[in-house]
Amino acid sequence: MCGIVGYLGGREALPIILNGLKRLEYRGYDSAGIAIYNGSSISVCKSKGKISKLEKQLQKRKNLSGSVGIGHTRWATHGEPNNINAHPQYSNSNKLCIVHNGIIENYSTIKQKLIKEGYTFKSDTDTEVLINLIEYVKIKENVKLGEAVQIALNQVIGAYAIAVIDNDKPDEIVVAKLGSPLCIGVGKDEHFIGSDVTPFIEFTKNVIYLEDGELAIIRNHKDTLFRKIVDDSKISPTINKLELSLDKIEKQGFDHYMLKEIYEQPKAIQDTLRGRLNISKGIIKLSGIDDYINKFLSAKKITIIACGTSWHSALVAEYMFEKISRIPTEVEYASEFRYRDPVVERNDIIIAISQSGETADTLAAIKLAKSKGAFVYGICNVVGSSIARESDTGSYTHAGPEIGVASTKAFTTQMTVLYLMAVKLSKSKGIISEKIFRKYIVEISNIGNKVHKALSANNEIKKIAKKFKSAKNCLYLGRGYNFPIALEGALKLKEISYIHAEGYPAAEMKHGPIALIDKDMPTIVIATNKINYDKIVSNIQEIKSRKGKIIAIVSEGDKEVKEIADYIIEVPDTIESMTPFMTVIPLQLLSYHIAVMLGKDVDQPRNLAKSVTVE
Ligand code: G6P
Repeated sequence: MCGIVGYLGGREALPIILNGLKRLEYRGYDSAGIAIYNGSSISVCKSKGKISKLEKQLQKRKNLSGSVGIGHTRWATHGEPNNINAHPQYSNSNKLCIVHNGIIENYSTIKQKLIKEGYTFKSDTDTEVLINLIEYVKIKENVKLGEAVQIALNQVIGAYAIAVIDNDKPDEIVVAKLGSPLCIGVGKDEHFIGSDVTPFIEFTKNVIYLEDGELAIIRNHKDTLFRKIVDDSKISPTINKLELSLDKIEKQGFDHYMLKEIYEQPKAIQDTLRGRLNISKGIIKLSGIDDYINKFLSAKKITIIACGTSWHSALVAEYMFEKISRIPTEVEYASEFRYRDPVVERNDIIIAISQSGETADTLAAIKLAKSKGAFVYGICNVVGSSIARESDTGSYTHAGPEIGVASTKAFTTQMTVLYLMAVKLSKSKGIISEKIFRKYIVEISNIGNKVHKALSANNEIKKIAKKFKSAKNCLYLGRGYNFPIALEGALKLKEISYIHAEGYPAAEMKHGPIALIDKDMPTIVIATNKINYDKIVSNIQEIKSRKGKIIAIVSEGDKEVKEIADYIIEVPDTIESMTPFMTVIPLQLLSYHIAVMLGKDVDQPRNLAKSVTVE
């Protein structure tokens, strides 16, 4: 992960880079640093911890004025998070400076070689090894910075997005990418660099997404040179027009991004449906499916790959595709899929789900599937992201930027796209009547309103959060469509409050978790099911008879569970297959309030990052 930022142009670089780092802090926040060419040398300021700490350090510094610079916010891989391991990293001569997002896997061999050549190392990072390799090449081969970077990169194994500056060439920044994201904002006589476009959206709408294996030498008042790292061939990149605006990524009066994003879900769902649902004509329009309908109709199975919360939306989709469209569906963790030599055949359909579109494991799993001839349908939120570009076709979720590390609106909008796909395929296969199809699409068009209604239980949920904030463990139970929601509810609590929580299919409780139940163990039961309702009620009774406390999520108007649960949270009634949209909302809010009450950093929980671009 890690976020990198850079600037080269006519303005003061420091405020632009600092602000850019704040926007990228979701990518890692173990340490941060900035390097500026100040007219005579490259000056660096670094700090362990979040960017606010770096900002305090910067106030004490005077020699950081200049219009060329790079910055970094770190999620530690090699070396503990401290000042020395923070980026930017200098070369031995202090003339070169680098920021790096990724991992250099053969750093140890290179380090030994450089030590023999007299190089010394202050940090434990692979990044310091890389910048010294660049310096070594530059001196030994007597080449300029761009060439030195290129030669050095041909010797490394691993993943990187880097930006390098050189005291001898202060009018240049050299950037390169393999496996980690990097984009260049093109302004008038100025250039911006970012791991994503957010550091520079107020300055320019023109962006170039560097592709894997590409290098760019960005020069002041001259054209940028683009090359392939491997063979020096020239490239003419496309300049894309950004549609993102600044107000879309700010907190807008909410205390945290996570809360803002929870409340944005009705709109995010509507935005995801826009142009795709025509009730009067009875049409679901998804060009990714329309253009390849025969592939989908002849599919023997669908395999969905994802990580984290996106994996949970894949699990919900397994129920949707099998129950609604009758297509056998498998769900795989991308990290397992990529290494277990899966059986993938030509024209098999793989759906890859990723909010960021940059998750390294998901990207690698897609590449593996494509190498075996599979057809890849990507569902991403970030437009132009690596996974979106690597997929054969797909659908964007249109949730808008998601900044809170715990995913919320990305999840419900992923389910929205998946639901549209399942219902559309079911109609195309001719397995549902026009009447049932219409029932589905009318209900889909209403999800946003119902989610809005589900949010109105917030105050009630806050009171429940107060009662359970001191719990050490929590159990989440659900059945059918709501089993993945139990997993997602448990994940949300773990991620931001650090309370241990487990999600289980309700009926599996008797095979183990029931042993954990006592008066101190709250169980959150999703009991909106129409199918198997009686069985859920029995599960609740089993917990009650062992003195466990029950928080039940029920459909409005429920009578039976109300009688036995300690606390109930009502959600709007809907058809069985759409209950996940309703039930996940109180679970997001419950985790949020508990984490806030415990004083945790909701938007940037410890050890996590929003976008995991390393294995
Ligand atoms: C990280 C994030 C999660 C996210 C997961 C997958 O772990 O903290 O919120 O669900 O990555 O990310 P993706 O961008 O591929 O959906």
